[in-house]
Amino acid sequence: MPAATPFLTKIVRAVHELAAIIWYGEVFFISFILVPAFKRLPSASKGPFMLEVFPRVFHAATISASLTVAAGLALAWLETGFRLAVFLSGPWGLSILLGGLMGLFILVMHLTVESAELGKLKNVSPALAADFPEPLRLLEKRVERIPRAGFAVLTGTLLLMIYASHGL
Ligand code: HEM
Repeated sequence: MPAATPFLTKIVRAVHELAAIIWYGEVFFISFILVPAFKRLPSASKGPFMLEVFPRVFHAATISASLTVAAGLALAWLETGFRLAVFLSGPWGLSILLGGLMGLFILVMHLTVESAELGKLKNVSPALAADFPEPLRLLEKRVERIPRAGFAVLTGTLLLMIYASHGL
């Protein structure tokens, strides 16, 4: 790994790691605690719960995911100056390249596909939420698969980052 400004690199790495921990923990919590608990609610509670909780969860993920990727890119720049050859040769560069692309992919999916799904909540009047109208029922069907797929890809990303930093 090429040398860089050591103190700045340490700070940026700490920001990257903290943001990644928050993001990964949040996706774990959504996938295995929040969504299963949500599924067990009676229909009359599901709509109000979605309108209140889902946008907050989405915005928290936007902040932690964007910070993870931004700090990851800054770290890669500090450590390599973005020299392509570093990323295309050797296990460190290849792990960061693959892990980084996977993390970037999840962020892009979050900002496009997930954002479009969540946008449908805006068309539902809070007064009608307890009736659990059609747009909310459609969203409920997708709400289980999307976070679990994200969790699987993020697990792969984390393992690649850990491998890059420490080897096996
Ligand atoms: C564009 C996306 C990303 C880039 C460019 C990037 C880049 C980096 C770089 C350069 C390192 C330092 C490796 C070293 O100093 O040896 C690192 C470490 C790390 N990255 Fe990323 N990263 C990205 C996305 C992510 C994502 C999405 C996660 C997890 C959700 C993540 C989690 C970590 C962790 C936990 C470490 C520290 C590993 C350890 O010290 O054990 N990164 N990353």
